[in-house]
Amino acid sequence: MEKYVIEGGNPLVGEVEIGGAKNAALAILAASIMTDETVTIENVPDVRDTNVMMQAMESIGANIIKVDRHTFKINGARIHNQVILNEGIKKIRASYYLIGALLGKYKNAEVPLPGGCNLGTRAIDQHIKGFRSLGATVNVRHGSVIAHAQNLKGSHIFMDKVSVGATINVIMAAVMAEGKTVIENAAKEPHVVDLANFLNSMGANIKGAGTDVIRISGVPKLHKSEYAIIPDQIEAGTYLMAAAATQGDITVRNVIPKHLECIYAKLSEIGCRVEESDDAVRVIATGRLGNTQVKTLPYPGFPTDMQPQMTVTLGISQGISIVTESIFDNRFKYVDELARMGSDIKVEGNTAIITGVERYTGAEIDAPDLRAGAALVIAALSAEGRSVVTDIQYIQRGYEDFHLKLQKLGGNIRLVDEPEETDLFYRDPAFSVVVS
Ligand code: UD1
Repeated sequence: MEKYVIEGGNPLVGEVEIGGAKNAALAILAASIMTDETVTIENVPDVRDTNVMMQAMESIGANIIKVDRHTFKINGARIHNQVILNEGIKKIRASYYLIGALLGKYKNAEVPLPGGCNLGTRAIDQHIKGFRSLGATVNVRHGSVIAHAQNLKGSHIFMDKVSVGATINVIMAAVMAEGKTVIENAAKEPHVVDLANFLNSMGANIKGAGTDVIRISGVPKLHKSEYAIIPDQIEAGTYLMAAAATQGDITVRNVIPKHLECIYAKLSEIGCRVEESDDAVRVIATGRLGNTQVKTLPYPGFPTDMQPQMTVTLGISQGISIVTESIFDNRFKYVDELARMGSDIKVEGNTAIITGVERYTGAEIDAPDLRAGAALVIAALSAEGRSVVTDIQYIQRGYEDFHLKLQKLGGNIRLVDEPEETDLFYRDPAFSVVVS
């Protein structure tokens, strides 16, 4: 098993190039099979989740040609069935996008129920409600969602909850439905807008993405397109947070600064200097930072996917901070791991009360999920001494070249393979198997 071995204490300094947004890519990849013509997608991040999604698409007959590491030509003309049996797909949350894409194009889909990070109950009732309201029959049987329709008809759908996944899924199911669909209380996240822009580039008629009312006029079919995915808001935010936690100075490049405002506003509030240009944001932290209150909210609020990184940063800032998680009901599991590094954080329900400590100390810690895993790596980089982070396959789901990018910023982090090799590393670094 691979692990990160981290020697903490260096301020991270330098520039980092941000890749395409994982969550936009997952939706756009799924949507790319909604035409029989070839679609070219650029800026696809090379992470586990996008690779699993493409394997599942290939398993039903999609033809995918890798042009380069981040560019793919996808053709869905030879899709021979709509039943996804691919085992890997159960592990990713965004497997559900194949329901919307297949139902929208073929009026038929059978997809295993989504997995992904265990952040508490992750219902899909709003997805199902949306599909049914467009005229589909939807059942959950033997662990799969089975959706079928003779005809999909536009409808007026009021989402009971702001859901990124349900909004994207219903858009996909509705683009080729007969007539008009209105989605009220829609999610406004950048990747919802990116998916809508992509579908519009294929000939769809979607208006209002990025607001809470989305209007779709059904079109008979979609056509080829060339499209580049937006930069990853959360990857960029993670590096900005690493600058804050290690008292460093990091510039994230190839970003849309507007998407990062909700993150760097908080960093500025706790004492970081923030500089913004057309496609870059720089965060400079000199000295220990201050305290604040943060509540996660749907976009444009503070993203839940940045909550662990923010909590880790506040854990070594001065004073008492409060972080409230309002999107998921179990997103503080990593706090137990952080306690092993000397943090002083009390969790009551969905609120963390954080008393800042002077600094973390290195420890052996497990990554419990994708974003918390990245946050614990940041904690380890800021800590005094050595840490070993295990279960890093979660982190690899969503961060391309994580340790390499951190190394370029001056982080002392190495990817080490084989369990016993880490033990050898402890005894004698000369025996460790350092992968890169
Ligand atoms: C997406 C992101 C995830 C991010 C989350 C919130 C992807 C692949 N994942 O997840 O990284 O943390 O948005 O920004 O894009 N809910 C229901 N019923 C539903 C759907 C959702 O009750 O039918 C609830 C969820 O349990 C959760 C909340 O609504 O409490 C928000 O979930 P949602 O926005 O759907 O998140 P995901 O699309 O799963």
